[in-house]
Formats: sequence, structure tokens, C-alpha cells
Amino acid sequence: MWTASSPANIALIKYMGKYDGNVAYNISLSYTLHKFQTVVSLELNNIGKDVFQNINIFDEERFLSHLLRIKKLTNFSGTFTIHSRNNFPTSAGIASSASSFSALTICAFKSICDITKSEMPSIQHLSDISRLASGSSCRSFFSPWCVWKGDKAEKADLPDLNLQHDLVLISTEKKKISSSQAHELVKTSLLMNGRKERAETRLTQLVTALKNKDWQLAYQICYAEFIDMHALFETSFPHFGYITHRTMLVLEEIQNFWNKNNDGPVVTIDAGPNIHLLWRADSERLREQLKKNLKNRDQSIEFL
Ligand code: PMV
Repeated sequence: MWTASSPANIALIKYMGKYDGNVAYNISLSYTLHKFQTVVSLELNNIGKDVFQNINIFDEERFLSHLLRIKKLTNFSGTFTIHSRNNFPTSAGIASSASSFSALTICAFKSICDITKSEMPSIQHLSDISRLASGSSCRSFFSPWCVWKGDKAEKADLPDLNLQHDLVLISTEKKKISSSQAHELVKTSLLMNGRKERAETRLTQLVTALKNKDWQLAYQICYAEFIDMHALFETSFPHFGYITHRTMLVLEEIQNFWNKNNDGPVVTIDAGPNIHLLWRADSERLREQLKKNLKNRDQSIEFL
């Protein structure tokens, strides 16, 4: 049995829109979330087909076809029993595809290379192959920061900052529009004009802000960036969206918090209603305070 684990990642400059082979329209920048991990194990079987041992995978078909892709690439004809688990609730509405597919990619190569006594491919190659299954998974190979442009993800030259992460859980409902559908639908939005340039400009601004330790500017840039992606959703044909009334109330509370303290978390939202907060390591007191404020406003809010 071979085992590998891989983390999730959260994008501050968002990947949205793609060409064939999950080649991104625009540049993106992510921070690796080591606290959210997927562990995949593969065990050779003798039943002539790949099967799952446990069934908590979000999309079995995609998982099996990625394993098949790697077996074809390596001319490997054996079959596996797949075990996969996340250390975070699978129903939490967190994109688990990045950690799942990167873990599967590593584990498949690890086992096949071991069995066939061949050399393990480079991290770069693993990232390229993982991207074919799930675009954002190619960023999980580089830590703590990853920049992904077109078909190449690589470690970004940024200080770690040892950021602390909270997920404000607004809803765990399965989303009505998957991110794959979103990538297609946004092609119909007029706001795609200039989107590539806006992402690039923001990435340059954000890198400068982070290097200069201008945290408030980083918050402003990241806010504008996730709103930009959600504006693509809302201006597509047909339009769709993920941000709910509860999401807006939390965003308002966070803005009040920033106004009062001149400090707070960097905020971002993926293709869902839940809110990601990133805190500098020295803001533990503020972090507890904001959580308290949010709980006071809405008892049912949970944090992960
Ligand atoms: O990797 P996918 O196809 O699930 O795309 C997800 C894209 C976003 O999460 C919405 C943004 C990002 O850059 O991660």
C-alpha cells in the first residue's frame, strides 16, 4: 500500500476561465492551507479494475479517470483499490478538489514508480499532470505561495508570513453551479474583457503590498479581486451567484471591524458562499475578537 497527502490552497488572485487542458486564462496566486489535507492510499488489487474502498470522494468518475490517465502515461496496467479521506468535513463546502487530485497524483506516481522501479517525476511534472484533472490542484505542490500562469505553476517569491486561516462556514449545501460549469459560463460575461490584465495588475500590486507589509492594502486588493470574480458570475448568460445575504452580513461585520481597528484579516471567497480569512501571525487577539463579534451577530455561524 502506498500513501500520499497533499494540502488545499486558497487563491487570493483567482483562477477563472480556462482553455483545454485546464490552461488558465489568467494568472493566479494562492496560499497553501496545510491544515486542510487529503490522504490518498493505493493498494494493488487482482480484480482487474480500479475500485474505491471508501466512498466519500466528491466525484468518483473524475478520480478514476485521473488514475487511468496516469496509468496510460506510465504504461502501467495493474489495478488499484483507492482509499481517500480528508481531515476536514467533506460537506463543508470547501473545494476539496485541489487537495484530492494533488494527493492522488503523488500517490499514483509513487506507487507506479515503486512497482516499476522507475524514477519519481519532478514536482513540476506532478503539478502539470495534476492540473489536467483539476486546475487549482496544480498550485498545491508549491508552498507557502504559488503563482500559476497558463500551464505552469511555481513557487512564488514571497515571504511566508505564517498566515493563520479561518473558514467562516455560511453553508454546507452542495453548490448548484460547479466550478467547471462556472469556468464555461463566465466566457459569456462582458467583464471577461480586461480580466486577464486586471488579475495581472492586482497580482503585481499584491506582491508589492505583501513585501512592504502593507496589510491593509493587501486586504483592499484581495477584496476587489474576489468581487471581480463574483461579478463575472453575476454578469454571465445566464447569470448565477454564490454570495448570500448571510455572506454579505459577515462581510459588513468584517469591514466594521477593519474600520474600528485599522487592522483585520485578508478576506476572500471562492465559488461558494463561505468566507476565507487570513490573519497575520501577530493578530491572535484580533482574530478571537472578530470571531466573538461574528458569533454575537449570528449564533449559528461556525468556523473551521
Ligand atoms: O480547480 P477548479 O476548476 O475547481 O477551479 C476553482 C477556481 C476557484 O476556486 C473559484 C478560484 C481559484 O483560483 O481557486
